[in-house]
This record gives sequence, structure tokens and C-alpha cells, in this order.
Amino acid sequence: MRIRKAVIPAAGLGTRFLPITKSVPKELLPILDRPMLQYVVEEAAEAGIEEVIIVTARGKESIAAYFQPRPELEERLAETGDNALLEKIQHAASLAQVSFVIQEQPLGLGHAVLTAREAVGAEPFVVILPDDIVAHTPGVIAQMLAVAEQFDAGVVAVERMPWEVIPNYGVVDAAPVQERTHQVRRLVEKPPLDEAPSNLTIVGRYLLPPEIFDCLERTPPGARGEIQLTDGISLLLESRDIYAYEFLGVRYDGGNPLGLLRASLEFALAREDTRAATQVLLKTLSTP
Ligand code: G1P
Repeated sequence: MRIRKAVIPAAGLGTRFLPITKSVPKELLPILDRPMLQYVVEEAAEAGIEEVIIVTARGKESIAAYFQPRPELEERLAETGDNALLEKIQHAASLAQVSFVIQEQPLGLGHAVLTAREAVGAEPFVVILPDDIVAHTPGVIAQMLAVAEQFDAGVVAVERMPWEVIPNYGVVDAAPVQERTHQVRRLVEKPPLDEAPSNLTIVGRYLLPPEIFDCLERTPPGARGEIQLTDGISLLLESRDIYAYEFLGVRYDGGNPLGLLRASLEFALAREDTRAATQVLLKTLSTP
């Protein structure tokens, strides 16, 4: 199965990060020296995705600016012979062909994906939510491609979560078919705890056929009054098989300040150039 395109919804208001998100889009907040958005574009590129379609909103133009060249800066770095830095600033744009569509109104995740319909066309594609950061090689998208190929079906990434947080997520009711893989029977977005069919929650990675767009056109507003991608996939399930895949890797919730802090610390411990200093820092902080 050849998947060429990824849709990255990045049109949200980022309310959990206010006040910083008054002027900096959540997706550009950093884990160390790179924006969250870059980690997910890297994950897509690693899986062979060639084209990334970012759904943004007005006022978030700095997201597009991040992927544009900065000739003066590049000339300057070339002159001073700082090739490592030069390579670093050119890296994001070299990962994939990046284009943008604007979601004019914040009508929900399903609506954001529908906004990318024309840019995706009639081919299967992936959706990646940039505040779900997963550290693993191969990345989640590469892992999901293998599952989609095996079953010739759509795939959503899932993770078992403690029951008390289940109402914050999309949840699947699914029958196990092999290790880490379940066939989806039903999906529900943000169920009350007593209505949750399982504790298998949807993580922001989806591999979908283009038929999802017709389903999203027919999807009425659901949880929080928004057009939910989960509800669109429920409609899709009437005509297509969908599998839920428990990916390998640790997921960080970059959608809130403490989740991002945790990701930053763990990435700093994992990276060779920052590990030793971070270990010292953590030791100093934890010593009374
Ligand atoms: C979205 C999806 C939800 C999923 C979650 C994962 O919710 O609607 O199904 O479980 O992402 O991060 P949101 O975080 O936008 O409320």
C-alpha cells in the first residue's frame, strides 16, 4: 500500500497553553530546539510520506513561515562556515513537500480533515495530530502502514489508558485479532465513564481511505458540539474494515504544559548532546 500524503490539523486555539498561544501557535512550541510540528513531519517522512498538508487557521501564519527558506540567515551561516546550523535550519523544509489549507471556522477535528479534501484527492492518507508525540523508531505511522497493508484496511492508533481519563478521548470497542491489533466494532468520542466500551483510547494517528471525506460530509456535530473525526470513522465502519493498533513507543501529551515539559526532559535525556547536562540538572533539582 502506497501512502503519499499526510494531513496535520493545526488550526486549534491552543487554549491549554494560553497566554503563550496568543501569539505563538501551539504546534510551534518546542521540545528542546525543534517545534512539536517538526517531530511529526519527521515521523511522516520516515514512513515515506512525500506530501504534508497542514490545516491552519488565520493568525497562525508563523507555521507556514517555519517551512519557508530564510535566504539572509542561510547566507550568513554559509559565510561563517556554520554548516551544522545551516543544515539544521534547512532540515524541516527538506523533509517533505508542505502545503497549507485554512480552516475558516473552528468546527472540530473532523471538519479540519474535511478541509483538506481537495488537497488529498482520491487516495488513502494519514492524519497526524501534532500534540501527540511518540518516541520510537520506527515511528507510529511506519508501524501502522504495515498493519494497513496486512489487513488491507484503515487503521487507528490506540493506547490503553487508566479508566479515569477515558472521557477525554475517543474510545474503541474492538476484538483482538493478533498481538497489538484489534478489529474495530464501534468508536465513541469522549464517552462518559459508564458508557466507555473499553479503555483503548485513540491516539492522534489515523490511516484512512478517501471515502472518509463523504462520511465527514454526513457527520453531524457530536461531543462538544464539534464535527468529530471519530464520528466520521464510525460512519466509515459501515462500509470498510478498520483496525485499532497498539503502537510501540511512548506517547507524550504535548497538548498541555506539563506533558510538554515531560517530553522535553525525556527527549533531553535520550539525546546524546544534552543527556549529561540534563542528568546533572535533574540531580541538582531533586537534591534538597
Ligand atoms: C482528539 C480526538 C480523540 C483522540 C485525541 C488524541 O481529541 O478527537 O478521539 O483520542 O485527539 O489526542 P482532542 O485531544 O482534540 O480533544
